[in-house]
Amino acid sequence: MHAPMAIRVSSSVAATASNRSLLLVVAGVALALLASPSAVSARRRPVRLRLYMHDIVGGPGQTAVRLVKGPGPENPSMHPGNYFGDTVAVDDLLTAGLAAGSAPVGRAQGTYMTGSMSRPVFVVAVTLMLAAGPYNGSTLVVAGRDDTSQPVRELAVVGGTGALRRAAGHVLWSTARVESSLHAVLQLDVHASVPAPSKAAAAALLVSSA
Ligand SMILES: *[C@@H]1O[C@H](CO)[C@@H](O)[C@H](O)[C@H]1NC(C)=O
Repeated sequence: MHAPMAIRVSSSVAATASNRSLLLVVAGVALALLASPSAVSARRRPVRLRLYMHDIVGGPGQTAVRLVKGPGPENPSMHPGNYFGDTVAVDDLLTAGLAAGSAPVGRAQGTYMTGSMSRPVFVVAVTLMLAAGPYNGSTLVVAGRDDTSQPVRELAVVGGTGALRRAAGHVLWSTARVESSLHAVLQLDVHASVPAPSKAAAAALLVSSA
């Protein structure tokens, strides 16, 4: 926002009476900006979700396939056979609970790549397609660095569609359970927000649905 910056700059030079009256004018403009429709529509509504992502890299029910075997070198921090640049495509089930048999709520579709030569790090780019609840039919786009040596990783919510259009925030990403060497369950705690509809937009919605 430009207004608070203007106030800070002005107050540092507000030594004289004329500067003090200038400051009052600037403050008045700032208040007017805060009350303007554009400031109101900048309000945001929180989006909090907990999802479990089932990453199954082989065997029955496989949902993750390796596209690229990195030419190397082998990553010494990971199990043998993992190479820098390995890239996996996923269409992983999202569930409401930890168990794979709990209510399905969507899919995580995208890729992750072994993004470090020395650390057990994946670089993730997935779209969470939600298929239940208030955000059924909407998506969240998530990207970031998954350092599996850390108990909780932070990835970015970089956008969304549908009811989650213009989403922003972060996902706390952790390994909730290792079912087998082929099936890991990740816990995704989404802390995001979307623009709150302005009064005018809400009224337009009411009219269009009437
Ligand atoms: C989600 O939306 C689809 C399409 O509108 C609908 O068929 C489905 O029943 C919904 N699922 C849930 C769990 O609400």
